[in-house]
Amino acid sequence: RISNWFNDNLKVGDTIKVLAPEGRFVLRDGADDRPLFLFGAGSGITPVISLMKTALVRTSRRIKLVYANRDKDSIIFKDELDLLLERFPGRAEVFHHLDIDRGFMKVDDVMREIQGYEAADFYTCGPGPFMDTVELGLEQADIAREHRFFERFVSPVDPDRREPAPAQEENSGGGTPKVFRFSFENESHEVPYIPGTTLLESAEKAGLKPPSSCLDGYCGCCMALKKSGNVTMASREALTDDDIERGWILTCQSRPVDDEDVEVDYDAPY
Ligand code: FES
Repeated sequence: RISNWFNDNLKVGDTIKVLAPEGRFVLRDGADDRPLFLFGAGSGITPVISLMKTALVRTSRRIKLVYANRDKDSIIFKDELDLLLERFPGRAEVFHHLDIDRGFMKVDDVMREIQGYEAADFYTCGPGPFMDTVELGLEQADIAREHRFFERFVSPVDPDRREPAPAQEENSGGGTPKVFRFSFENESHEVPYIPGTTLLESAEKAGLKPPSSCLDGYCGCCMALKKSGNVTMASREALTDDDIERGWILTCQSRPVDDEDVEVDYDAPY
């Protein structure tokens, strides 16, 4: 929709306000001694090539990229990848997985490609089924969770075609908390919780600005790790079941369900 809107509405000389880049799909601090393994598929290469360039320029990490595409003609950044390999000889290898030759990537492919890189940090971005396959492969290869990083992107449903939102889970009748506590950028904050609002709204009404973007449960910018309290989320599109099990919530979608004070950590490592 945004590209249509650009084409239909923007004129030369118009000014648009944009947010700074957000997200957690960045190279982990303190990992420069580990190899770097990247999985990308289709346009999922966009953040992946950026990680690759950063690591090539700023570190001496050994790097491997497995890049899946339908066929040779669908490879985005083919020339740029070739140039990187040329400019940093011996530092990186790229394996092009072409579906037309090998079929969609399978768990066995993942396990085979990562051999020799078991000590790496693994970063993955691509369509959902591709990411699920990589995740399963890494799990079966016993790669520890703290070394696996995924950038899941989902498209919001067209608002004109969206089903009516499911009825929100009622507050269980146990009252509402008095305060919402959160840490962000290494600072701790405590704000009054305003009944009926989301956690994010309560923070904003107190004049604070925790990270957020879509306000619709899709982008994951407002993700935080819940330390205490009980909440219900109106939408949780940006989270996997595993995220939720580990305590991640979307603060733009979360409302407390009882009177226990809620505390979250926006800085927690994913
Ligand atoms: S701001 Fe996008 S999911 Fe909350």
